[in-house]
Amino acid sequence: MPLFKKKANEPQVDFQNLPRHIAIIMDGNGRWAKKRGLPRTAGHAAGAENFRTIATYCKDIGLDYLTVYAFSTENWKRPQEEVGAIMGLLKKYLLEAIEQMERDKVKMEFFGDLSALTPELRELCEQTREISKRYDGCQVNICLNYGGRDELLRAAKAYAHDCMEGRADPNHLTDEQMGGYLFSKGVPDPDLVIRPSGELRLSNFLLWQSAYAEFYFTDVLWPDFDKNELHRAIAAFQSRSRRFGGV
Ligand code: IPE
Ligand code: IPE
Ligand code: MG
Repeated sequence: MPLFKKKANEPQVDFQNLPRHIAIIMDGNGRWAKKRGLPRTAGHAAGAENFRTIATYCKDIGLDYLTVYAFSTENWKRPQEEVGAIMGLLKKYLLEAIEQMERDKVKMEFFGDLSALTPELRELCEQTREISKRYDGCQVNICLNYGGRDELLRAAKAYAHDCMEGRADPNHLTDEQMGGYLFSKGVPDPDLVIRPSGELRLSNFLLWQSAYAEFYFTDVLWPDFDKNELHRAIAAFQSRSRRFGGV
């Protein structure tokens, strides 16, 4: 028997035909911590660490775009202490990302209304975006204070404004032009949307962009979602037939 024979239950991924864009709802941090008798904030720390691991792996296998849902427009409803801890982890992550940018060479973008963040965090996001602009391999989009409805409302307002200013024609708005008003401007739609943690909903994530995305749900909690789980999601995606309304 050959030494490196793949186990029968290992997902078979065709790395030459990866989805171009994977989006992940990084959910289940709180339950992961609860299961271990730890505070929810410990789950967020583990989740942030896992994001680092998965993003690096996505870059290594040659994925073009990874978009992650890190904090929604609704997540402000959580206790102040938890929100503060998440923002603290974000700061730590961004400082490290800036420091290791030369090594990682990942282009980073942010989707969401950053004006609600502290000036310090906003500045760090801006720096990260600015410094990483020159990399053209994998692009990682972090959704922060992001909501699909908020994004669409902003687009509608910006379009109405452009119409009033004579920069847009109210009788002609195409799918493509609409895309130009979104945070995701210039980024192709996600091919695969993954949600760990057993919840079967979108929770206001990429409402416009996921029109024809394939979905993959798993009960695994985000801090436990490792490279093997990602392989499972990609293998499932590769087994699907995408018709986009055709036959
Ligand atoms: C996702 O994990 C992280 C954020 C929403 C910021 P949760 O904190 O929602 O974890 P659960 O769903 O309570 O387990
Ligand atoms: C979605 O998870 C948002 C993020 C993962 C950032 P939530 O935990 O906020 O979603 P619901 O409340 O279960 O729908
Ligand atoms: Mg949750």
